[in-house]
Amino acid sequence: MADSHLLQRVDILCGDFEETKKYAAADTFFYLDPPYKPLNDTSSFNSYVKEAFDDREQIRLRDFCNGIASKGCSFLLSNSDVKGKNPADDFFDDLYKDYNIKRVFATRMVNANAEKRGKLTELMITNMEGNMYL
Ligand SMILES: C[S@@+](CC[C@H](N)C(=O)[O-])C[C@H]1O[C@@H](n2cnc3c(N)ncnc32)[C@H](O)[C@@H]1O
Repeated sequence: MADSHLLQRVDILCGDFEETKKYAAADTFFYLDPPYKPLNDTSSFNSYVKEAFDDREQIRLRDFCNGIASKGCSFLLSNSDVKGKNPADDFFDDLYKDYNIKRVFATRMVNANAEKRGKLTELMITNMEGNMYL
């Protein structure tokens, strides 16, 4: 009943993230949890929809973040830490160089390889200052 009560004032959209831009006001907070960039060829599941969420999509999402940030919105985005896997991979560090990037430990209990279950870092990227979101 409590959930039902809260959902009375919620709009649930099913569509591309660009469609949420029309809801962006100066006090809007966006949490973005996109398909993660694969860490390697064997952990490449990111196809929730028929179109793959590839690097071009990750760049389109960064452009979306630039757009909402310029409107005064706050955002927090999570993604895989490809640099944690390959120190030479600066994909997200370059893409979000104008924002705050934090690495946080995430526990992954499911992996076909038991030795790979456990802790790895993920990215939390934001245009907010300080540690208020962690
Ligand atoms: C990592 S999952 C997020 C899961 C979600 N936070 C949850 O707790 O259920 C990534 C989600 O992004 C969605 N997605 C893929 N492409 C998208 C797009 N272009 N616009 C909006 N969402 C998209 C997928 O359908 C999937 O549900």
